[in-house]
Amino acid sequence: MYIIVFILSIIVFAYAEPGKAPLVQLNDGRTMPTIALGTWLGNSTTGRITPVGYETEQAVLWAFEAGYRHIDTAWSYHVEDQVGRAVKTVVDAYNLLHEVTTTPKLWNDAHARSAVVPALRASLAQLKLNYVDLYLMHWPLGQFANGSYDYTHYLETWRGMMDAQALNLTRSIGVSNFNKVMLENVRAHQLTEPAVLQIEWNINLQQPGLLAYCRQHNISVMGYTPFGALMDKRRADSPTHIDDPQLTKMAAKYGKNVQQILLRYAVEMGVIPIPKSITSSRIFENIDIFDFQLEDNDKRILRKFDRGYRTIPQLKWRDHPFYPFEKKADYPTTSTSTVRTDASTQQVISKGDLNDKSAKMNFRDIKI
Ligand SMILES: NC(=O)c1ccc[n+]([C@@H]2O[C@H](COP(=O)([O-])OP(=O)(O)OC[C@H]3O[C@@H](n4cnc5c(N)ncnc54)[C@H](OP(=O)(O)O)[C@@H]3O)[C@@H](O)[C@H]2O)c1
Repeated sequence: MYIIVFILSIIVFAYAEPGKAPLVQLNDGRTMPTIALGTWLGNSTTGRITPVGYETEQAVLWAFEAGYRHIDTAWSYHVEDQVGRAVKTVVDAYNLLHEVTTTPKLWNDAHARSAVVPALRASLAQLKLNYVDLYLMHWPLGQFANGSYDYTHYLETWRGMMDAQALNLTRSIGVSNFNKVMLENVRAHQLTEPAVLQIEWNINLQQPGLLAYCRQHNISVMGYTPFGALMDKRRADSPTHIDDPQLTKMAAKYGKNVQQILLRYAVEMGVIPIPKSITSSRIFENIDIFDFQLEDNDKRILRKFDRGYRTIPQLKWRDHPFYPFEKKADYPTTSTSTVRTDASTQQVISKGDLNDKSAKMNFRDIKI
């Protein structure tokens, strides 16, 4: 009996403690923790992994216990209900509402300006929250549920995000998978500057130019897939693997494992990493990175691993005019094109290649 009470009191103490990660100040004055738990269950060889009902909920509970106070999620991950149950459990029991940042993302099938607020309300219902701290546009490109393309301009969708913020349904708003031209376009139209840009970031893909732009304009960067393809045996083409001797040697020097070195490096580069795990021990070790600092020389070594290698290029969307990344040849495209015709999205653009200089100019010239 005493042992059970003792264990419970340790758990209660852990939940009630302030979060383990330092906070970063956003450009809208709010703060948020410098590490977040990821909740995308990922893909297996047969497609997207379907949640079974409680694994993410359990992971989020472990995360709070470990000291995370920031949970990244999305409509498209199909786990918002699980995230919501766990957040509610902890927030209600330990009065943590003002400490916890919940960050869901708008899916591509709700890119009409008029569709954004209803989509956020649907997420809020799943999350059992009245508002979220940060809402992100998941991708700059729209796609209808049947897979055909929606050419709604991302600035139009962004206006919908601003509507959601004006209604206090989200405290902060940001974008994900935008490139520099797209961020510049938001600025050129004098719309609200995104508080956050969420991008893939790991040692294979360090994107120094985009980070510099965000630093210059005070946009905080969240880094998804922080382990890149380093641990994925299906990705033999990854330029670096987790057992790289330079990485293992460095980890041993700090008494950490390689995953912790990768996460710490992200933090020191000003990137908020979003490690996903549903394994208790990993959830705890991934946040155990705030008790050491990398030496400059080690950061120089890690910098050299950058190969511009993208783990999640989403090449299936590469013929969408708002596909944000560099393009690769010889990949089949899948979508047929459909233009949304509802009144809120009359802005339609012609197909173009974002990597073309002329197309970049066109995008910037669009008046909305
Ligand atoms: N905005 C976007 O478009 C976008 C795209 C992708 C991801 N995201 C977000 O970013 C999050 C993270 O990205 P990700 O899920 O692609 O990849 P990730 O966090 O880099 O890797 C997740 C994988 O690493 C394993 N893992 C975690 N910690 C580990 C450790 N310490 N040691 C060994 N293995 C470990 C996990 O296994 P277990 O779970 O089995 O422990 C899982 O298989 C997502 O969950 C999602 O929230 C956003």
